[in-house]
Amino acid sequence: MKLVTCGLPYANGKAHIGHLRTYVPADVYVRYLRLMGQDVLFICGSDCHGTPIVVNAEKEGISPKELVDRYHEHFQKIFRELGIEFDFYGRTDAEYNHRRTQEIVKRLIENGYVYAKEIELAYCPKCDRFLPDRYVEGICPYCGAIARGDECDQGCGRHLEPGEIKEPRCKICGSKAEFRKQKHYFFKLTAFKDFLIDYLENKLQGTENALNYARQWVKSELRDWCITRNLEWGVKFPGEDLVVYVWVDAPIGYISFTEEACKRKGLDWKEIWLNGEISDITHFIGLDIVYHHCIFWPAMLKGAGYSLPKAVVASGMVKVEGKTFSKTRGYVVWVEDDYLKAGFNPDYLRYYIVNYTSHEKDLNFSWKVFRDKVNNEIIATLGNFIYRVLHFAWKNFGRIEGKVDPVVIDKIAEIKDKIVSAINRWEFKEASDAFMELATFGNEFFQSSKPWDLIKEDRDKCMDVLASCIQIVKALVIFAYPVMPKTMSKLAEFLGFDIANARLEDALKPIESIELKKPFIPFEKVDDKKIEEMERVMLERIRRAEEAESGKELIDIKEFEKLDIRIGKILKAERIKGSKKLMRLEVDIGNEVRQIVAGIAEVYKPEEVVGKLVPVLVNIKPAKLMGVESRGMILAADVNGKPVLLHPDREVPPGSKIR
Ligand code: 2FM
Ligand code: ZN
Repeated sequence: MKLVTCGLPYANGKAHIGHLRTYVPADVYVRYLRLMGQDVLFICGSDCHGTPIVVNAEKEGISPKELVDRYHEHFQKIFRELGIEFDFYGRTDAEYNHRRTQEIVKRLIENGYVYAKEIELAYCPKCDRFLPDRYVEGICPYCGAIARGDECDQGCGRHLEPGEIKEPRCKICGSKAEFRKQKHYFFKLTAFKDFLIDYLENKLQGTENALNYARQWVKSELRDWCITRNLEWGVKFPGEDLVVYVWVDAPIGYISFTEEACKRKGLDWKEIWLNGEISDITHFIGLDIVYHHCIFWPAMLKGAGYSLPKAVVASGMVKVEGKTFSKTRGYVVWVEDDYLKAGFNPDYLRYYIVNYTSHEKDLNFSWKVFRDKVNNEIIATLGNFIYRVLHFAWKNFGRIEGKVDPVVIDKIAEIKDKIVSAINRWEFKEASDAFMELATFGNEFFQSSKPWDLIKEDRDKCMDVLASCIQIVKALVIFAYPVMPKTMSKLAEFLGFDIANARLEDALKPIESIELKKPFIPFEKVDDKKIEEMERVMLERIRRAEEAESGKELIDIKEFEKLDIRIGKILKAERIKGSKKLMRLEVDIGNEVRQIVAGIAEVYKPEEVVGKLVPVLVNIKPAKLMGVESRGMILAADVNGKPVLLHPDREVPPGSKIR
């Protein structure tokens, strides 16, 4: 039995296209494996713990459980409607997951991989509580970006340990947080360094994007992980008034969900999770959680004596209309509100997601591209061929009994091999291109055989041409089914075969005789008006987001005057070792030369900025970035997250005031 899992969505918000980037290809993969005759268990579930859920529930004035229930339902509905069919969809707050998590944590403790340590944690004196993870915001100690308590989500992407964040502020009340001591528990990740190097270099399979990142990290920055948090909501840590970090109990969901799925199917979950070193487990995830799946998770499994995953398949990132995906800035497609409610066939979006680009690359969703892919590929190439053949055959014959051309069988066999090879390399675009190639072949075959002439001259020959074409239709239905299950199931039913139990080889078995009914048009065209409407909705959302962003609180001149902004002249500049973004500058601000650290190194070279005049916020409190003190802040324009320096319109003396 092979196990395929998908990263668990946080039950904390609605499903968007970013989620589908992982779930659709995983579902496509599982369907192809089954067509290849493999026994697969496909599981997922809601990730129900963690501070974001507690914070959001608090904001809404409901319990975390109520919030989680809502989104758990929502995700199940979305998956159903998109044809993403898990054998089991669990939740991490269920009793079965608490049980398995506690068992694994106890094993890790027994095996000597957990130790207690006093650490300094962000504490809000006003709210009178510790501030785990998302309760706190501050500055990333590595790159200087604004970061959340547990990750530098806008900067270098690093996982941050409790207590690491600089200049912490409470996310609830906005006050400055202080640091207080408390005992927490750590997982000895560092003890697994050699094991991980070997596992990542020699054993783990998967997409290069995941493996490369993980191999790099394991050598450079392995640190022990604090695995306890000051929260009520979560899995209790044995013997303490703490819960385990969400990244402990979430992946353990993969195990507990397997147990539940196996229970229902009369299978033995231990054959998957306790069956020696490497087990046939494939995790589909997004690129942002590679660290957790390739480093933290295998170490935890190893430490507790469980089997290790065989492959990690990471999808590339998502862009929307060419811009970085962002819910807050409006560059998002909500699956329910934007897509399903507009009445589009779910198969179209599935095809777009797997066919736009290779699984590892960035996917751009644009409504116009969507329209073109549907109208020019799904409909003009695939749909038209199928409908044309079925309609012609039904109209002129009703029953088809003819000899299939060996050339056709050879072509189908060639396409089948292409699909199998592509799927074994997680190249879903290649697999979907392959069945489109068969549709193009079919169109050419139909066109060049001219059945509309043959029907008048030689009915038997015409019948043979149609038998060949219907053979291609059948092959297309089987080959395209994993990508477009809704439409292809209907077509399989029309052709009288059971797609749920079909195999890829069935595409090669000659159809001996088939009775046809009046065919239906398999795909509906996407019209321009609807696309314009979708674009309008998106633009409106982006505009509102921009407004909200700029609609910050009004301030009076007194408050503005608190800012001491002056023109500075950059005298010296050098990159800061170990940071992609940071540059150390020496800036003449008139009466003194200041050392300032600026996040401009990704865009500018040191020699380009020396001699430049730039505005400097002089009276900002000093901060340390990557161990380098910064006394001042260079002001720059933010263009898609990248800095663009500002210069005065003519030469002015350093120290000139900006008012
Ligand atoms: O990043 C996320 O969305 C997490 N909820 C994924 C968890 S995957 C797993 F390990 F449980
Ligand atoms: Zn950072």
